Amino acid sequence: MMAKMTPNVTDMIPIARACLEGGADGISAINTVKSICNLDLNKKIGLPIVNGKSSISGYSGKAVKPIALRFIQQLRTGIKDLEISGIGGIETWEDAAEFILLGAKTLQVTTAIMQYGYRIVEDLCNGLSHYLDDQGLDSLDELVGLANKNIIPCEELDRSYIIYPKVVSEKCVGCGRCYISCFDGGHQAISWNVESRRPEINENKCVGCHLCATVCPVSAIEKGNLQFKQGTKPHKVSL
Ligand SMILES: Cc1cc2nc3c(=O)[nH]c(=O)nc-3n(C[C@H](O)[C@H](O)[C@H](O)COP(=O)(O)O)c2cc1C
Ligand code: SF4
Ligand code: SF4
Repeated sequence: MMAKMTPNVTDMIPIARACLEGGADGISAINTVKSICNLDLNKKIGLPIVNGKSSISGYSGKAVKPIALRFIQQLRTGIKDLEISGIGGIETWEDAAEFILLGAKTLQVTTAIMQYGYRIVEDLCNGLSHYLDDQGLDSLDELVGLANKNIIPCEELDRSYIIYPKVVSEKCVGCGRCYISCFDGGHQAISWNVESRRPEINENKCVGCHLCATVCPVSAIEKGNLQFKQGTKPHKVSL
């Protein structure tokens, strides 16, 4: 018997422990995220409307995957040998692999089946099978929880260095999004060359946040120079 967890809590661990003490064989997570998705602006009622009213309801599908993955990771590291069934936004084999790598032994899919039908399960199995071949592994069991050792508290992350962004001119389409984002939401470290219609990065102002790379629609901003912060001993960095 798998006890199913709501994500509408701060910490799932005490609830999962209580379920195990009460006789559950494992935990499945997550259920839907409490939400009001949108409103009819003229009627001033949330959607969907049921005889003039609406309710708080449950959000699911692709958008909840990051929330699900963080709970799976915390369950796997918080409770030793826990049987976990992963749920929440699984659509593709890559999504499935992410849940497995963070500790899920079985997977469940609801919304994607509603959207695309059972045929996606075949694609999930095919994709995972090719992934196993690429990784040189025989069984999905060998992947369970492999990524957990690489999720650490953020205060323990190595913040002794900056990687400056590098614009690949041949890929850049001159849209200016990186310039606007860095100017309005970052550190004003990009200037705009009006003649070449290309961004130019000023490393004296850049803090290495990579907002510019995130917003670039054609992935024209890559990792460039690595520089250790003042007072930090240079060391090997794995990127
Ligand atoms: C229309 C709908 C009905 C659902 N009904 C139930 C339910 O009766 N019991 C339950 O435990 N979860 C229910 N769920 C939650 C799903 O089983 C699942 O936990 C959640 O939607 C996240 O997975 P997904 O992104 O694959 O949909 C429902 C989800 C949807 C979208
Ligand atoms: S990394 Fe951040 S600060 Fe540096 S140029 Fe890009 S957006 Fe600006
Ligand atoms: S966002 Fe990308 S494509 Fe647009 S100007 Fe910047 S580097 Fe070029």
